[in-house]
Amino acid sequence: MESIWVAESNIRKRQSLSGDIKTDAVVIGAGMAGILTSYYLKQAGVNTVVLEAKRIGSGQTQNTTAKITSQHGLIYDRLIQVFGRQMAYHYARANEGAIGEYERLIQQKGIDCGFTKCSAYLYSRAQELPLKREAEAARSLGIPASFETDSELPFPVSGAVRFEGQARFHPLKFLAALAEEVTVYEETKVLKVEGQQVETDRGNVTAEHVIFASHFPFLNIPGYYFARMYQERSYVLALEGVPLPEGMYLGVDREELSFRAQGDCLLMGGGSHRTGKNQAGGGYEMLRKKAEEYYSGYRERFYWSAQDCMTLDGVPYVGQFSKRKPRWYVATGFGKWGMTGSMASAHLLTSLITGKDCPQGDIFSPQRQFTMKAAGELLSHSIYTAKGLAKHLLPGKTKDFVPNCPHMGCRLEWNPEEETYDCPCHGSRFDQRGQLIDGPAQTDCKKK
Ligand code: FES
Repeated sequence: MESIWVAESNIRKRQSLSGDIKTDAVVIGAGMAGILTSYYLKQAGVNTVVLEAKRIGSGQTQNTTAKITSQHGLIYDRLIQVFGRQMAYHYARANEGAIGEYERLIQQKGIDCGFTKCSAYLYSRAQELPLKREAEAARSLGIPASFETDSELPFPVSGAVRFEGQARFHPLKFLAALAEEVTVYEETKVLKVEGQQVETDRGNVTAEHVIFASHFPFLNIPGYYFARMYQERSYVLALEGVPLPEGMYLGVDREELSFRAQGDCLLMGGGSHRTGKNQAGGGYEMLRKKAEEYYSGYRERFYWSAQDCMTLDGVPYVGQFSKRKPRWYVATGFGKWGMTGSMASAHLLTSLITGKDCPQGDIFSPQRQFTMKAAGELLSHSIYTAKGLAKHLLPGKTKDFVPNCPHMGCRLEWNPEEETYDCPCHGSRFDQRGQLIDGPAQTDCKKK
């Protein structure tokens, strides 16, 4: 089913590219990160075009829960421990700045997208200490954070970290308005990038700067993002006839439910799992059981799922794509925080491309040092991927197509929840006929 955002918005259709063009910068992907990057580059005097394989906002932007927040789980205490206070400070500034910039832009342009300032909460039903530590760490970095014991949730909590001055909005209404200010070619699929030339099925674009903002980079080498990212799916219900909280909530216990209001609906999310690891299904069912328990008599208006790119150390990769390609850039790995991640990366990439000083560059750099956590994640990701690859020789159960992922060959797994074939290695997804839904794969499965 489509998300509440898709049902409530209408983005004007754009033409496809026709023939070859030259420009200063080309952005691949017209989601939130791509459109924002293109907008700020244009503001800085850099002629930019955006190439989109489908429609504006038709990737992961249409499936977000659209929380504009610097509260990214229990992150600040960990960032200080692992990267040091200075780097943690830059991460906090980049994301707090992103909230302020959304507000400024929306006010300046009068964008009608339901932008509402509110608090964001991380809650637990079992523990206080990690929350207290997180509140203290965030406060020490200049975020208005506090530890609280009250909440608007329909169950008792042992505590919550409150961040003030956060926000929520309608992402596609915002995107529709901003996209009016940039040049986008829709239904223009990138086939290849060589040097500064981007080859599409509708013509070639030659640009001084090439920006990959298409969720999971589809090129394997250079960059090797496939070895240091995987994808997670999670599920959302939009419920009517239930009490609506002022704040936005995210659980830090294993259950990890999230809550936020949107119009007359409550968006309740959860059930995260690695893509391709859901053979038994049950994500929506779990949410419906919880809804019945907390909000008896609720009405379900929408349900949908989201897919997020996860990095090994939990910090996005934003900056130079690879040392070998100094004028290629990337914005990916936002985890579940794509709204602030997109805004922060748009600013960072614009600074890099226009030669401005950018103190936040190091913490987001795709070339940053591996942390211990990242090294451990790398090992388990490699083992997991090796298992998926090893299975590719087993006979497949599909009738018309070979159930091996065209990206790197891993055996696809059936996802009964959404009736799709999902790749456990890096998260590509295919419909029942083997046709591509989500990358990094670029093509449909091979016919038998
Ligand atoms: Fe990489 Fe399937 S997404 S092998």
